[in-house]
Amino acid sequence: MRKKITIIGAGNVGATAAHWAATRGLGDVVLLDVVEGVPQGKALDLSQAGPVDGFSVSITGTNDYDDTADSDVVIMTAGLARKPGMSREDLLARNVAIVKSCVSEAVERSPGCVLIVVTNPIDAMVYTAYKVSGFPRERVIGMAGVLDSARYRTFLARAIGVAPCDVSAMVMGIHGDNMLPLVRLANVNGIPVTDLLPADEIEAIVKRTQTGGAEIVGLLKTGSAFYTPGLAAVEMAEAVLTDSRRVLPCAAWLDGEFGFSGCFLGVPVVLGAGGIKRIMEFPLTDAEREAMKESETVVRRQMAATGI
Ligand code: NAI
Ligand code: 2OP
Repeated sequence: MRKKITIIGAGNVGATAAHWAATRGLGDVVLLDVVEGVPQGKALDLSQAGPVDGFSVSITGTNDYDDTADSDVVIMTAGLARKPGMSREDLLARNVAIVKSCVSEAVERSPGCVLIVVTNPIDAMVYTAYKVSGFPRERVIGMAGVLDSARYRTFLARAIGVAPCDVSAMVMGIHGDNMLPLVRLANVNGIPVTDLLPADEIEAIVKRTQTGGAEIVGLLKTGSAFYTPGLAAVEMAEAVLTDSRRVLPCAAWLDGEFGFSGCFLGVPVVLGAGGIKRIMEFPLTDAEREAMKESETVVRRQMAATGI
Protein backbone atom coordinates (compact mmCIF):
# COMPACT_ATOMS: atom_id res chain seq x y z
CA MET A 1 0.00 0.00 0.00
CA ARG A 2 1.18 3.51 -0.78
CA LYS A 3 2.31 5.74 2.04
CA LYS A 4 0.23 8.81 2.89
CA ILE A 5 1.68 12.23 3.61
CA THR A 6 -0.42 15.10 4.89
CA ILE A 7 0.90 18.62 4.54
CA ILE A 8 -0.92 21.19 6.67
CA GLY A 9 -0.68 24.68 5.18
CA ALA A 10 -0.85 25.06 1.41
CA GLY A 11 1.23 28.23 1.32
CA ASN A 12 4.72 28.61 -0.05
CA VAL A 13 6.44 25.95 2.04
CA GLY A 14 3.51 23.51 2.10
CA ALA A 15 2.84 23.62 -1.63
CA THR A 16 6.56 23.34 -2.40
CA ALA A 17 6.85 20.35 -0.08
CA ALA A 18 3.92 18.76 -1.92
CA HIS A 19 5.77 19.35 -5.17
CA TRP A 20 8.99 17.72 -3.96
CA ALA A 21 7.08 14.81 -2.37
CA ALA A 22 5.19 14.16 -5.61
CA THR A 23 8.22 14.29 -7.86
CA ARG A 24 10.01 11.87 -5.53
CA GLY A 25 6.93 9.60 -5.62
CA LEU A 26 6.99 9.36 -1.83
CA GLY A 27 3.31 8.53 -1.46
CA ASP A 28 -0.16 10.01 -1.79
CA VAL A 29 -0.19 13.63 -0.69
CA VAL A 30 -3.01 15.45 1.10
CA LEU A 31 -2.61 19.22 1.12
CA LEU A 32 -4.78 20.98 3.72
CA ASP A 33 -5.36 24.67 4.33
CA VAL A 34 -7.89 26.82 6.15
CA VAL A 35 -8.48 28.87 2.99
CA GLU A 36 -11.11 27.33 0.74
CA GLY A 37 -10.08 26.59 -2.84
CA VAL A 38 -6.35 27.16 -2.46
CA PRO A 39 -5.29 23.62 -1.48
CA GLN A 40 -7.75 22.19 -4.01
CA GLY A 41 -6.43 24.42 -6.79
CA LYS A 42 -2.77 23.79 -6.02
CA ALA A 43 -3.35 20.03 -5.70
CA LEU A 44 -5.18 19.91 -9.04
CA ASP A 45 -2.44 21.92 -10.74
CA LEU A 46 0.32 19.75 -9.25
CA SER A 47 -1.44 16.47 -10.07
CA GLN A 48 -1.56 17.56 -13.73
CA ALA A 49 2.26 17.46 -13.71
CA GLY A 50 2.04 13.67 -13.24
CA PRO A 51 1.89 12.74 -16.93
CA VAL A 52 4.78 15.06 -17.75
CA ASP A 53 7.02 14.26 -14.79
CA GLY A 54 6.06 10.60 -14.61
CA PHE A 55 4.74 10.37 -11.06
CA SER A 56 1.55 8.49 -10.30
CA VAL A 57 0.88 9.38 -6.65
CA SER A 58 -2.39 11.17 -5.93
CA ILE A 59 -2.49 14.75 -4.67
CA THR A 60 -5.63 15.89 -2.89
CA GLY A 61 -6.42 19.42 -1.74
CA THR A 62 -8.81 19.84 1.16
CA ASN A 63 -10.11 21.91 4.07
CA ASP A 64 -11.35 18.80 5.90
CA TYR A 65 -9.15 16.92 8.38
CA ASP A 66 -11.10 13.72 7.74
CA ASP A 67 -9.24 13.50 4.41
CA THR A 68 -5.96 13.31 6.32
CA ALA A 69 -6.92 10.15 8.27
CA ASP A 70 -4.27 7.43 8.65
CA SER A 71 -1.38 9.49 7.37
CA ASP A 72 2.09 8.03 7.92
CA VAL A 73 3.71 11.46 8.10
CA VAL A 74 2.17 14.87 8.81
CA ILE A 75 4.21 17.92 7.85
CA MET A 76 3.03 21.02 9.71
CA THR A 77 3.66 24.26 7.78
CA ALA A 78 0.54 26.29 8.61
CA GLY A 79 1.10 29.66 10.18
CA LEU A 80 2.36 33.14 9.55
CA ALA A 81 5.70 33.66 7.81
CA ARG A 82 8.24 36.42 8.43
CA LYS A 83 8.14 39.78 6.73
CA PRO A 84 11.12 42.18 6.65
CA GLY A 85 11.94 43.45 10.15
CA MET A 86 10.21 40.53 11.88
CA SER A 87 12.11 37.94 13.85
CA ARG A 88 10.97 34.34 14.02
CA GLU A 89 9.96 35.06 17.64
CA ASP A 90 7.54 37.80 16.51
CA LEU A 91 5.45 35.00 15.04
CA LEU A 92 5.20 33.07 18.28
CA ALA A 93 1.85 34.05 19.78
CA ARG A 94 -0.12 33.80 16.54
CA ASN A 95 1.48 30.54 15.48
CA VAL A 96 1.08 28.78 18.86
CA ALA A 97 -2.70 28.96 18.44
CA ILE A 98 -2.50 27.69 14.85
CA VAL A 99 -0.15 24.82 15.72
CA LYS A 100 -2.29 23.79 18.70
CA SER A 101 -5.47 23.53 16.65
CA CYS A 102 -3.94 21.95 13.53
CA VAL A 103 -1.91 19.37 15.43
CA SER A 104 -4.79 18.27 17.64
CA GLU A 105 -7.06 17.83 14.59
CA ALA A 106 -4.38 15.92 12.69
CA VAL A 107 -3.23 13.54 15.43
CA GLU A 108 -6.82 12.63 16.31
CA ARG A 109 -7.11 11.18 12.78
CA SER A 110 -3.56 9.87 12.40
CA PRO A 111 -2.56 8.66 15.88
CA GLY A 112 0.38 6.65 14.54
CA CYS A 113 1.93 9.35 12.35
CA VAL A 114 5.32 11.01 12.59
CA LEU A 115 4.94 14.78 12.93
CA ILE A 116 7.44 17.01 11.17
CA VAL A 117 7.03 20.62 12.28
CA VAL A 118 8.18 23.51 10.10
CA THR A 119 6.14 26.48 11.43
CA ASN A 120 8.26 29.18 13.11
CA PRO A 121 9.65 29.85 15.59
CA ILE A 122 10.41 26.21 15.04
CA ASP A 123 11.92 25.23 18.38
CA ALA A 124 8.86 26.56 20.24
CA MET A 125 6.37 25.23 17.69
CA VAL A 126 7.79 21.70 17.76
CA TYR A 127 7.54 21.90 21.57
CA THR A 128 3.89 22.95 21.20
CA ALA A 129 3.24 20.04 18.85
CA TYR A 130 5.00 17.63 21.22
CA LYS A 131 2.83 18.70 24.16
CA VAL A 132 -0.44 18.89 22.24
CA SER A 133 0.01 15.55 20.47
CA GLY A 134 1.10 13.60 23.53
CA PHE A 135 3.28 11.58 21.14
CA PRO A 136 6.57 10.02 22.25
CA ARG A 137 9.58 12.19 21.45
CA GLU A 138 10.64 9.91 18.59
CA ARG A 139 7.57 10.97 16.59
CA VAL A 140 7.73 14.78 16.91
CA ILE A 141 10.60 16.34 15.00
CA GLY A 142 11.42 19.91 14.02
CA MET A 143 12.77 20.89 10.60
CA ALA A 144 15.54 23.47 10.61
CA GLY A 145 18.93 21.75 10.69
CA VAL A 146 18.57 20.26 7.22
CA LEU A 147 17.81 23.73 5.83
CA ASP A 148 20.50 25.57 7.80
CA SER A 149 23.08 22.90 6.95
CA ALA A 150 22.11 23.11 3.27
CA ARG A 151 22.75 26.85 3.36
CA TYR A 152 26.09 26.30 5.12
CA ARG A 153 27.10 23.61 2.59
CA THR A 154 26.09 25.83 -0.34
CA PHE A 155 28.16 28.79 0.87
CA LEU A 156 31.18 26.57 1.59
CA ALA A 157 30.91 24.85 -1.81
CA ARG A 158 30.77 28.18 -3.64
CA ALA A 159 33.79 29.53 -1.77
CA ILE A 160 35.85 26.37 -2.35
CA GLY A 161 34.61 25.88 -5.92
CA VAL A 162 33.28 22.32 -5.54
CA ALA A 163 29.95 20.56 -5.95
CA PRO A 164 27.67 21.27 -2.95
CA CYS A 165 26.87 17.56 -2.56
CA ASP A 166 30.54 16.86 -1.80
CA VAL A 167 30.48 19.23 1.16
CA SER A 168 29.54 17.60 4.44
CA ALA A 169 28.72 20.12 7.15
CA MET A 170 26.20 20.40 9.92
CA VAL A 171 24.39 23.11 11.86
CA MET A 172 23.26 22.33 15.41
CA GLY A 173 21.32 24.24 18.08
CA ILE A 174 18.49 26.70 17.64
CA HIS A 175 17.01 27.89 14.31
CA GLY A 176 18.04 31.49 14.91
CA ASP A 177 21.03 33.78 15.15
CA ASN A 178 22.56 31.59 17.89
CA MET A 179 22.66 28.48 15.70
CA LEU A 180 25.94 26.56 15.64
CA PRO A 181 27.44 25.84 12.21
CA LEU A 182 30.16 23.33 13.13
CA VAL A 183 33.47 24.36 11.56
CA ARG A 184 35.63 21.63 13.10
CA LEU A 185 33.69 18.84 11.39
CA ALA A 186 32.94 20.51 8.03
CA ASN A 187 34.77 18.82 5.17
CA VAL A 188 34.91 18.16 1.43
CA ASN A 189 34.98 14.39 0.98
CA GLY A 190 36.91 14.15 4.22
CA ILE A 191 39.26 17.11 3.66
CA PRO A 192 38.69 19.62 6.51
CA VAL A 193 37.41 22.99 5.24
CA THR A 194 39.91 24.59 7.59
CA ASP A 195 42.61 23.26 5.21
CA LEU A 196 40.83 24.71 2.17
CA LEU A 197 39.69 28.19 3.23
CA PRO A 198 41.21 30.99 5.33
CA ALA A 199 39.71 31.45 8.82
CA ASP A 200 38.20 34.87 8.06
CA GLU A 201 36.35 33.48 5.03
CA ILE A 202 34.97 30.59 7.08
CA GLU A 203 33.88 33.04 9.77
CA ALA A 204 32.00 35.12 7.18
CA ILE A 205 30.28 31.95 5.90
CA VAL A 206 29.27 30.99 9.45
CA LYS A 207 27.72 34.45 9.96
CA ARG A 208 25.95 34.34 6.61
CA THR A 209 24.51 30.92 7.50
CA GLN A 210 23.27 32.21 10.87
CA THR A 211 21.36 35.00 9.13
CA GLY A 212 20.52 33.00 6.01
CA GLY A 213 16.76 33.16 6.55
CA ALA A 214 16.76 36.93 7.09
CA GLU A 215 18.85 37.42 3.93
CA ILE A 216 16.10 35.80 1.86
CA VAL A 217 13.29 37.65 3.71
CA GLY A 218 15.11 40.90 2.92
CA LEU A 219 15.20 40.05 -0.78
CA LEU A 220 11.68 38.63 -1.10
CA LYS A 221 10.05 41.34 1.08
CA THR A 222 6.68 39.54 1.14
CA GLY A 223 7.61 36.30 2.89
CA SER A 224 10.39 33.86 3.62
CA ALA A 225 12.29 31.04 1.93
CA PHE A 226 10.32 28.07 0.67
CA TYR A 227 12.10 25.97 -1.99
CA THR A 228 14.75 24.51 0.30
CA PRO A 229 12.53 24.51 3.42
CA GLY A 230 9.94 22.46 1.50
CA LEU A 231 12.62 20.05 0.27
CA ALA A 232 14.21 19.77 3.72
CA ALA A 233 10.90 18.66 5.24
CA VAL A 234 10.45 16.12 2.44
CA GLU A 235 14.01 14.84 2.92
CA MET A 236 13.09 14.07 6.54
CA ALA A 237 9.75 12.52 5.53
CA GLU A 238 11.48 10.32 2.97
CA ALA A 239 13.91 8.99 5.59
CA VAL A 240 10.95 8.06 7.81
CA LEU A 241 8.83 6.56 5.04
CA THR A 242 11.64 4.48 3.54
CA ASP A 243 13.32 3.63 6.87
CA SER A 244 16.56 4.80 5.29
CA ARG A 245 18.32 5.67 8.59
CA ARG A 246 19.69 8.91 7.15
CA VAL A 247 21.64 11.00 9.65
CA LEU A 248 20.06 14.45 9.52
CA PRO A 249 20.25 17.41 11.88
CA CYS A 250 16.77 17.89 13.34
CA ALA A 251 15.16 19.58 16.34
CA ALA A 252 14.70 16.73 18.83
CA TRP A 253 13.50 16.60 22.43
CA LEU A 254 16.61 16.01 24.51
CA ASP A 255 16.73 13.81 27.57
CA GLY A 256 20.32 14.11 28.70
CA GLU A 257 21.92 13.95 25.25
CA PHE A 258 24.80 16.43 24.84
CA GLY A 259 24.14 17.37 28.49
CA PHE A 260 20.71 18.97 27.81
CA SER A 261 17.31 17.86 29.06
CA GLY A 262 13.72 18.98 28.69
CA CYS A 263 14.01 21.11 25.56
CA PHE A 264 14.18 20.84 21.79
CA LEU A 265 17.53 21.56 20.15
CA GLY A 266 18.96 20.81 16.73
CA VAL A 267 21.13 17.68 16.91
CA PRO A 268 22.08 14.92 14.47
CA VAL A 269 19.54 12.10 14.54
CA VAL A 270 19.09 8.79 12.76
CA LEU A 271 15.72 8.94 10.98
CA GLY A 272 13.81 5.86 9.98
CA ALA A 273 10.49 4.08 10.41
CA GLY A 274 8.71 5.50 13.44
CA GLY A 275 10.80 8.69 13.45
CA ILE A 276 13.97 9.20 15.49
CA LYS A 277 15.81 5.91 15.89
CA ARG A 278 18.72 7.41 17.75
CA ILE A 279 20.31 10.73 18.66
CA MET A 280 23.93 10.69 17.46
CA GLU A 281 25.83 12.00 20.46
CA PHE A 282 29.48 12.96 20.22
CA PRO A 283 31.83 15.04 22.40
CA LEU A 284 31.54 18.79 21.91
CA THR A 285 34.41 21.22 22.49
CA ASP A 286 34.01 23.80 25.26
CA ALA A 287 33.25 26.52 22.69
CA GLU A 288 30.62 24.35 20.97
CA ARG A 289 29.00 23.50 24.31
CA GLU A 290 28.85 27.22 25.17
CA ALA A 291 27.16 27.94 21.83
CA MET A 292 24.64 25.16 22.47
CA LYS A 293 23.94 26.67 25.92
CA GLU A 294 23.17 30.01 24.27
CA SER A 295 20.74 28.21 21.96
CA GLU A 296 19.17 26.48 24.95
CA THR A 297 18.62 29.80 26.76
CA VAL A 298 16.70 31.24 23.81
CA VAL A 299 14.72 28.02 23.22
CA ARG A 300 13.68 27.91 26.90
CA ARG A 301 12.53 31.55 26.71
CA GLN A 302 10.46 30.70 23.63
CA MET A 303 9.04 27.57 25.27
CA ALA A 304 7.93 29.65 28.27
CA ALA A 305 6.33 32.19 25.93
CA THR A 306 4.08 29.49 24.45
CA GLY A 307 2.25 29.36 27.79
CA ILE A 308 2.16 25.56 27.65
P1 NAI B 1 2.62 31.09 3.79
O1 NAI B 1 2.00 32.31 4.37
O2 NAI B 1 2.97 31.06 2.36
O3 NAI B 1 1.68 29.83 4.09
C1 NAI B 1 1.10 29.57 5.32
C2 NAI B 1 -0.20 28.88 5.05
O4 NAI B 1 -0.77 28.47 6.30
C3 NAI B 1 -1.25 29.76 4.35
O5 NAI B 1 -1.69 29.14 3.16
C4 NAI B 1 -2.36 29.88 5.37
O6 NAI B 1 -3.65 29.97 4.81
C5 NAI B 1 -2.18 28.59 6.16
N1 NAI B 1 -2.82 28.60 7.46
C6 NAI B 1 -2.85 29.60 8.38
N2 NAI B 1 -3.59 29.22 9.44
C7 NAI B 1 -4.01 27.96 9.19
C8 NAI B 1 -4.80 27.04 9.92
N3 NAI B 1 -5.29 27.33 11.12
N4 NAI B 1 -5.04 25.83 9.36
C9 NAI B 1 -4.55 25.51 8.13
N5 NAI B 1 -3.81 26.37 7.40
C10 NAI B 1 -3.55 27.57 7.92
O7 NAI B 1 3.92 30.81 4.70
P2 NAI B 1 5.13 29.84 4.33
O8 NAI B 1 6.16 30.61 3.64
O9 NAI B 1 4.57 28.62 3.73
O10 NAI B 1 5.70 29.52 5.80
C11 NAI B 1 4.94 28.71 6.69
C12 NAI B 1 5.61 28.66 8.05
O11 NAI B 1 6.86 27.95 7.95
C13 NAI B 1 5.95 30.01 8.63
O12 NAI B 1 5.71 30.00 10.04
C14 NAI B 1 7.43 30.15 8.36
O13 NAI B 1 8.07 31.05 9.22
C15 NAI B 1 7.88 28.73 8.58
N6 NAI B 1 9.17 28.39 7.99
C16 NAI B 1 10.00 27.64 8.75
C17 NAI B 1 11.23 27.24 8.27
C18 NAI B 1 12.11 26.39 9.11
O14 NAI B 1 13.29 26.27 8.81
N7 NAI B 1 11.61 25.76 10.16
C19 NAI B 1 11.68 27.64 6.93
C20 NAI B 1 10.70 28.39 6.18
C21 NAI B 1 9.48 28.75 6.71
C1 2OP C 1 14.23 30.52 7.14
O1 2OP C 1 15.24 30.27 7.79
C2 2OP C 1 12.20 31.80 7.61
O2 2OP C 1 12.99 30.24 9.16
C3 2OP C 1 12.90 30.55 7.82
O3 2OP C 1 14.26 30.74 5.92
